[in-house]
Amino acid sequence: MSPGAGILAEESKAQREQLVELLTQAYWMEIETVMSYIANSVNPDGIRAQEIIESLNADIQEELGHAQLFASRIKELYGTVPGSMAFAPQQSYLQPPERSTDVVHVIRGVIDAETGAIEHYNRIIEFASKVDPVTEDMVVGILRDEEGHKRLFEGFLSEFDQGLH
Ligand SMILES: [Fe+2]
Ligand SMILES: [Fe+2]
Repeated sequence: MSPGAGILAEESKAQREQLVELLTQAYWMEIETVMSYIANSVNPDGIRAQEIIESLNADIQEELGHAQLFASRIKELYGTVPGSMAFAPQQSYLQPPERSTDVVHVIRGVIDAETGAIEHYNRIIEFASKVDPVTEDMVVGILRDEEGHKRLFEGFLSEFDQGLH
């Protein structure tokens, strides 16, 4: 890739295709997070669950917005946003817990999901920093949201850990 050619140039095709692959994985992560957070914002019971429910409700809208950002960028890079038949679930840790009052299970699942997103988005930023500053910039913004989500739920977890001792 010659300097100044940009990610949309013909000669950037290989890097573009790699980026589309990374962005597609990110898109699926966001979609699955929306599914998992909807379920976990409705299923839990108990006084202790209410704060978690409220927080997840707010996150659902943010994660949906992220999915739409990833989809748009895939299109801008001459990719195609996949159809639902290509979806393969990964979030085994965010399935409904045995007991609906098991809020700690949900908190830990959210932390796992956010940690996975943070790792993947750092990978995209690293790759994009060399070839596509626009994608880099977009994903940096999304990464900040995920770090905020993770930090919030780590705070919830520390409160519950204290309650258990
Ligand atoms: Fe997200
Ligand atoms: Fe998130």
